[in-house]
Amino acid sequence: MTKSTFYITTPIYYPSDKLHIGNTYCTVSADTMARYKRLRGYDVYFLTGTDEHGQKIQRIAAENGATPKEYVDKIVEGILKLWTLMQVSYDGFIRTTDPAHERVVQQIFEQLYRQGDIYKGAYEGWYCTPCESFWTDSQLHDGKCPDCKRAVEKTSEEAYFLRMSKYQDWLLDYIKSHPDFIVPASRANEMIRNFIEPGLEDLCVSRTTFTWGVPVTFDPGHVVYVWIDALSNYITALGYGSDDDSLYRKYWPADIHLVGKDIIRFHTIIWPIMLHALGLPLPHQVIGHGWWTADGEKMSKSKGNVVDPVTLVNRYGLDAIRYFLLREMPFAADGDFTHRSLINRINSDLANDLGNLVHRTSAMTRKYFEGILPAAGPRDALDEEIRAEADALTGKYTESMDRMYFSQALGDIWGFVGRLNRYIDQTSPWTLNKNAADRERLGTVLYTLTEGLRVVAVLLTPFLIHAPGIIFDQFSIGAAYQTWESALSFGVLPSGGRVKQAPALFPRLDVEEELAAFAPQQVPADEPPKLEITFEDFQKLDLRLATVVAAENVPRSDKLLKLTLRVGGQTRTVVSGIRSAYSAEDMVGKQVAIVYNLKPVKLRGVLSEGMILCGEGADGVLRLITAEPGLTDGAEIG
Ligand code: MSP
Repeated sequence: MTKSTFYITTPIYYPSDKLHIGNTYCTVSADTMARYKRLRGYDVYFLTGTDEHGQKIQRIAAENGATPKEYVDKIVEGILKLWTLMQVSYDGFIRTTDPAHERVVQQIFEQLYRQGDIYKGAYEGWYCTPCESFWTDSQLHDGKCPDCKRAVEKTSEEAYFLRMSKYQDWLLDYIKSHPDFIVPASRANEMIRNFIEPGLEDLCVSRTTFTWGVPVTFDPGHVVYVWIDALSNYITALGYGSDDDSLYRKYWPADIHLVGKDIIRFHTIIWPIMLHALGLPLPHQVIGHGWWTADGEKMSKSKGNVVDPVTLVNRYGLDAIRYFLLREMPFAADGDFTHRSLINRINSDLANDLGNLVHRTSAMTRKYFEGILPAAGPRDALDEEIRAEADALTGKYTESMDRMYFSQALGDIWGFVGRLNRYIDQTSPWTLNKNAADRERLGTVLYTLTEGLRVVAVLLTPFLIHAPGIIFDQFSIGAAYQTWESALSFGVLPSGGRVKQAPALFPRLDVEEELAAFAPQQVPADEPPKLEITFEDFQKLDLRLATVVAAENVPRSDKLLKLTLRVGGQTRTVVSGIRSAYSAEDMVGKQVAIVYNLKPVKLRGVLSEGMILCGEGADGVLRLITAEPGLTDGAEIG
């Protein structure tokens, strides 16, 4: 039964072709919360989107020879793909270039102006383009942006201002009297100490030096400051101010705005003042999470130290990456990314602890009970202990999940997984199996283990996308026993279900191999560059794309593959020494780059008419050079 509504938002992202695990963490965290609340029966609205206006976008688009809209359309496509890859279950995706959003931003600006909360003045100060932030002289740190420490630009222009000063006392009082409004509390103190108590200065909320923004209706030439535009998304996405505001009426005020610590200030100072001035209720909570760092430095595109989530998901699978991000980052603190910690988490938590528990439980049921879940007999003290721990776990889990303490919730689940693994060792089913008199006891043990696993799988559904379903399927756990309510009742799963064999849930990884694969790949400094060639020399090469249509091993060779290639309308045979990295089967259907005009030679009796291009990774493994979608075989390369 639907209990109540729950509205959660992520920040809307600046369009970037390089969203990294830091940004991904924020969205995956909100997704986990949304999935948890759905599991608990809430009617959830989960909003994310993109923040597409501003000087920076206008500049980058121009550098790319595109209009800002063309530029953002392309980038947003990539962002949507990333959220699909991460299986982010958003209900709404807002773009600040949506005309409906822009119209309401204009209305908001007009209303605040009419009321006297926005007034016209002159702005003199400093602007940080990467942060889209204005700073006064006194706010700069060593002449640089106090947030990102980058250079700022002097600006002076006629501008509109939001009367922040008028709301200072109200805001201070609101924050102090609502201790749950800003989480963690240390951030609330920081806002009070650093920004509110020293005195809120009126905020410059329009710009005239660029045009890529929402125009101020009553003063052409001015565009609305991006943060006023961006923050409004949380209500415009719900139809506030439009003909159909039913979503707004249903879901606002938001339960949680989840944001990174760098943008808490905007969400707990500017946004509440805007809402209050508009006569609207405030969100219940703004939660500020920490940063992913790499070697202690904030991960960011401009620093060039970003870790790409797509590469990680493609190599290790979605569940492993979601698990790692949510397990490794403590609530509201920073988390440092290292490849070694990722591999260790996968091996120890997923492959060893959970993977082994699933494997042992299923293997023993198949071996001792022909793959049919036995009924539980009388329980002894150990079984009671497991039941009590399962009960305690759901209690602790609820407390942690309600506060978004995901790392802690996962830690508690893994505590229980460890307990179940110990229970196997304590009950020693292989010994029980030797004695016919222990048959009922053996059944109870396997039933208890399966129930434990069922509870674990239900509690994992907000975090992991595939593993819970695989466990349910492997143990024939029907939909009625996948629910939150059923997880609260240990022992409800009917016996008699079929337990199937399945591949390892999380295969173990070779640590050194993985580290080598991700080590920075550099040409060794002592390797001299080859002789220079002229463009004419280069033009002699005929490089083409080809598709492998057939492949077989070359007899009497353990290195060579004989490949039949389709190159446009032509077919070619090429012998290639890449069998150490690719089997004949792997190769069929692959698109490869080839030297098309290489003089044919016979290799092991087979005529080879060309050469496949590949590179060697730092791990010494050969990898093919292949093409982006859109290029088909026969295409010339150059
Ligand atoms: N467009 C603004 C948000 C407007 S909301 C009305 C913005 N966009 S952003 O793309 O720069 O950042 C989006 C989110 O990613 C922010 O919450 C930010 O804190 C978060 N992160 C950016 N780098 C991060 C890490 N290295 N680690 C964790 N989160 C990070 O800000």
